[in-house]
Amino acid sequence: MADTKLLYLTDAYLKTIEAKITNIITTGHTTSITLDQTIFYPQGGGQPADTGTITGSNGTLAVAHVSYNNSNPTHQGKLTGTLNQGDMVNLNLDWDRRFHHMRNHTAGHILHEAVLELLPECPSVSGTHGISNQSFVKFKGIIDQTQLQEIEDICNQIVEADEPITTKFMTKAQILKAKIYIPFKLPSNKPLRIMQVGSRPPIPDGGTHVASTADVLPFKLTGVEYDDGHSIIHYQISATSPSTTSNSPANPITTPTLTPPSTKKKAAKIQINHSLSDLETKITTLKSALDTDLKSLSPDNINSKYLGKKGAVDDLTKLIPALPASDRGTAGKLINLLKADIQKTLVTTQPTLPSPPSDWLDVTVPGTLPQLGHLHPVSGAMAEITSIFAHIGFTRARYPEVDWDHYAFESLNMPQNHPARDEWETFFIDQPENKQMGKLVLTPHTSNGQVREMERVGEPPIRMLNIARCYRRQQDVTHTAMFHQFEGLVVDEDINIQHLKGTLDYFAQKFYGPGAKSRIRPFMFKFTEPSFEVDFSCVHCNGKGCRFCKSGWHEVGGAGMVHPNVLKAGGIDPDKYTGFAFGWGIERVYTLRPGLKLDDIRPLYQNNLDFLSQF
Ligand code: PHE
Repeated sequence: MADTKLLYLTDAYLKTIEAKITNIITTGHTTSITLDQTIFYPQGGGQPADTGTITGSNGTLAVAHVSYNNSNPTHQGKLTGTLNQGDMVNLNLDWDRRFHHMRNHTAGHILHEAVLELLPECPSVSGTHGISNQSFVKFKGIIDQTQLQEIEDICNQIVEADEPITTKFMTKAQILKAKIYIPFKLPSNKPLRIMQVGSRPPIPDGGTHVASTADVLPFKLTGVEYDDGHSIIHYQISATSPSTTSNSPANPITTPTLTPPSTKKKAAKIQINHSLSDLETKITTLKSALDTDLKSLSPDNINSKYLGKKGAVDDLTKLIPALPASDRGTAGKLINLLKADIQKTLVTTQPTLPSPPSDWLDVTVPGTLPQLGHLHPVSGAMAEITSIFAHIGFTRARYPEVDWDHYAFESLNMPQNHPARDEWETFFIDQPENKQMGKLVLTPHTSNGQVREMERVGEPPIRMLNIARCYRRQQDVTHTAMFHQFEGLVVDEDINIQHLKGTLDYFAQKFYGPGAKSRIRPFMFKFTEPSFEVDFSCVHCNGKGCRFCKSGWHEVGGAGMVHPNVLKAGGIDPDKYTGFAFGWGIERVYTLRPGLKLDDIRPLYQNNLDFLSQF
């Protein structure tokens, strides 16, 4: 415990005393002095240290800081002249600074009392009263910004009420026994003291205070911030007090009767003339008035009428001090609930925003996306077929849609006037014929690409996939004058029917699904020998036979082993190379797909988006 007598604890108004130096040390430019007694306040409890002078007959210490080191206040600063241990010295406080700290510290306690009165569930836990120019009290819980005005009003009521500040030394045991609220850990190296604002509950405190709350004027709350479930309320007092107390002679504030007289007109003592039930009645009346107002007033008007400064809720808050002290906490809670209720009502009754004027351009509205189309089902089928054959090495080729008779028939082992040509109801172009190539035709099948591909490639291997538009003079539910075929041609050494059959099965499975099979039946084409008609198993009955397929199979087109005459026409040695070819209608293979019961293929080419967009 301190050897130094801490006079500021018992008389905060002492500005000057005489004391004896008990120790003096100079290190560098700083001299530290301890005394037998002091009026200098060492920084602590949120209050900054005092400054001033310690003057002896041969020197002066300009006290820049006082800290509570090793149980005793140490006065630190620059020494001019000499001072020695045992010297008698005069202590002079920088009184204006100290008095401001006293007012500021008391203000912090007034704020604590005001919050305790309004929100007893939010006790204070710490405070700073001027250190680093910060003045705040930290409270447990969340205190809403909107409650600051009420709290400030209560603070000012306490100031106006001119309540005396009193202090008393107590032991730790006494403090505990009296169940005094302890906001922080009690120090073990200082005498313990409690302070009291008027007749309010005492609180442990070791700082210096003004004699009356009236000396704090004016009082202002400047904001609230939040930290880990705590609310830090900042406050401010004016630089100078309106009272003359600052210059009044020292008076021990432990004796409230000796409180220096305040020049300020005393605030009228607040009468305890209301009960909690009065307040409850007022709240009920206010709520029914609100119900009526909600129908006629705008949310803004309601906000100011009920929640604004000097609004209906504010008026209720002012009643709190007129209630018996024991009811003030409950009253505060009731008013807070009422406030929250009104706020909630206002949020839910916010009117919808007015619609913008017609010439108003909102540049933040997302643009209208263009409607995205998709491939025509036949184009989609072509892409898919190309991809299926690409996987087994077929290269896509394209040859003219308007081609010579030579490629469409003659080179395919169908000399002019051969009756087999009748199968292909061909459109001829009205133009003089070429001596070697014959007439120009609209290609009636993709087989015109066979000899062209042989001529292009020269030496096999050939793996061609020719997809093209074809034209025949036909028009019914399963035929259109323009349609599409895809032609496969493979020419290499040792190509046989097994290769053809394997390719057909591969395509069937890729295009129709894993269970699909192919079947070949003998047929006659002049450009293949042997020739076949190709069937794929029905996807609906899996080859068993159903209403859709009848036999279990669907015929899709022709195929066969390339005729030696065709190979010759293409300049390929038929003794060395063999090949197979197939040619099927795209519309035909496509309409046999599962889920696509297209009885009529003609709508595919009628450009009706209602129909096409289904695919
Ligand atoms: N070009 C024949 C047709 O249009 C189909 C076919 C192609 C047949 C290739 C055999 C080999 O019917």
